[in-house]
Amino acid sequence: DGLNTRAVAAGKQYFGSATDNGELTDTAYAAGLANTADFGQITPGNSMKWDATEKSRDTFTFTNGDVIADLAAKNGQKLRCHTLVWYSQLPTWVSSGGFDNATLITIMKNHITKTVTHWKGKCFHWDVANEALNEDGTYRANVFYNTIGPAYLPIAFAAAAAADPAAKLYYNDYNIESAGAKSTGAQNIVKLIKLYGAKIDGVGLQAHFIAGSTPSQSAQTSNLNAFVALGVEVAITELDIRQPTPATAAMTTQQAKDYAATVGACKAVAKCVGFTIWDYTDKYSWIPSVFSGQGAALPWDSNLVKKTEVYNAILNAW
Ligand code: XIL
Repeated sequence: DGLNTRAVAAGKQYFGSATDNGELTDTAYAAGLANTADFGQITPGNSMKWDATEKSRDTFTFTNGDVIADLAAKNGQKLRCHTLVWYSQLPTWVSSGGFDNATLITIMKNHITKTVTHWKGKCFHWDVANEALNEDGTYRANVFYNTIGPAYLPIAFAAAAAADPAAKLYYNDYNIESAGAKSTGAQNIVKLIKLYGAKIDGVGLQAHFIAGSTPSQSAQTSNLNAFVALGVEVAITELDIRQPTPATAAMTTQQAKDYAATVGACKAVAKCVGFTIWDYTDKYSWIPSVFSGQGAALPWDSNLVKKTEVYNAILNAW
């Protein structure tokens, strides 16, 4: 019995965790990650991003991503591949621009084709485009948008589909977990990609939440249904629920309820296919390094000890 077992029993395809190369030498951590009762899927936190795979033009390095792909195969876990086209963790040879429309399209397609082809057949999902929107739902002015216009999105999805027709192709973003301008913007991206005749299979809702101010279960459910109504599946892709550190018992109780609300929303929507937390232990969470004074966001603490209240809340919400 575990988080993945329960999710699968509820009709989902997986419950999983992000991980990263540097953590895998921690044998206790690696053993916990390999426990398929809890984790039926993994996502590389960094090693498939553009700055890791194509640091200089047309020179590809897949070594660290291969480690994660091989680990998933060895453990019998599904692999969500992350991510092809994103403004962040993008090498400066791309982000600094200076390319004309045709050249940047060639560069982007080459990146997608070679990366997706390398892991063809191994990536159950690909996050093709990540965080393309501003908070008000307009397009983020990244180098791709500025040079190519919104067509960069359907072009990217078409290139990924050509390279691995079996992979489910996702648009992935944060702050799209309840109705509002940004969720509407993400729905418009789904429509745009389909209008261009390209394939999009799913929308990933990152769900980087704050304990005590997460959207209600019903708000999350109706928002997931709004995506599903467009003919795509959905997945929770990067859930963590941060709180001020040091953690308090009261905030942890709140956090447990908040975890259960997102699980309940995914459970309620048949086309919510899976659920991923952004690593499983506070020991390796990205939160403290980015949101100062916050952390304690995951179901296992920084000593790899399970937080029973949070873990059981997730388990029993399936
Ligand atoms: C984070 C990683 O976890 C960190 O190790 C890295 O320093 C920055 O990126 N949204 C995403 C993820 O889509 O790729 C980000 O991952 C977290 C926010």
